[in-house]
Amino acid sequence: MKTLSTRHLIGIKDLTEDDIHLIFETADNFKEVINRPIKKVPSLRDITVANLFFESSTRTRVSFELAERRLSADIVNFTASTSSVSKGETLLDTVNNILAMKVDMVVMRHPAPGACAFLSRRVSANIINAGDGTHEHPTQALLDAYSIRERLGNVAGKKVAIIGDILHSRVALSNVFCLQKLGARVRVCGPPTLIPKYYPALGVEVSHNVRETLAWCDVANVLRIQMERQDIRYFPSLREYHQYFGITRQMLDALEHDIVLMHPGPINRGVELTSDVADSRQSIILQQVENGVAIRMAVLYLLAAERV
Ligand code: CP
Repeated sequence: MKTLSTRHLIGIKDLTEDDIHLIFETADNFKEVINRPIKKVPSLRDITVANLFFESSTRTRVSFELAERRLSADIVNFTASTSSVSKGETLLDTVNNILAMKVDMVVMRHPAPGACAFLSRRVSANIINAGDGTHEHPTQALLDAYSIRERLGNVAGKKVAIIGDILHSRVALSNVFCLQKLGARVRVCGPPTLIPKYYPALGVEVSHNVRETLAWCDVANVLRIQMERQDIRYFPSLREYHQYFGITRQMLDALEHDIVLMHPGPINRGVELTSDVADSRQSIILQQVENGVAIRMAVLYLLAAERV
């Protein structure tokens, strides 16, 4: 059996191109499984997975839980707000206490960049990063690239624009690493205040003109304005953001070619894109969500290979 080059999934930065292709091929098989009337396989029977969420989530959390159930794993769900973290317990103590109950794998979302890497150096369980602050969100980038491959046949050679709040986005950084490893050209687009200065050094093109960027790209992955992280005013108002960077039906109709529209969610309808664009035939937003389950099944299965 082919295996990944790593025993944790902390970031796309740590994966090889072969790892990504292996995850995609494994996800192809699981996608077939989850479309059967009986959606369950016994691959992770006797494996216990803890889902530790120190930050809100809908898609990632539900998707990991479904992936684990469909692989027949035992599951423990942990939410920081209702745990002893609220009494001051540290991350390491919390995780060590959970691991003492014989947990094999940990899926963790945490507001601190580096929290998953910190844990992976201190515990024996396999760690999967479900989003660490503004750092990386590797399974989101994998499902995004997988969805592009599904829609366009290949990622190599495609022009992908990531549009919106790049500064606060873990999705953006993981997407850049993943798309570049697969041979895509990547451009980021947004207001200068929402694009970190180091992006050109990553080999990424930078634009502040959304109409020109839409005319350039094959795929536009639109990111939300992260309301909860706007600690200072990066732009005057949401109305002005929409006026200059929001994607509308009229903008898509003015293009000379069809583009694919993506969004990792949650969407701020009427801010980064209008509702008719989010729900248009060019949008693959719900296919991304569907593919998230198969991708997460593949990641869990491949990382658990040493244990089963
Ligand atoms: N895409 C994503 O991470 O969504 P959630 O925050 O709902 O998990």
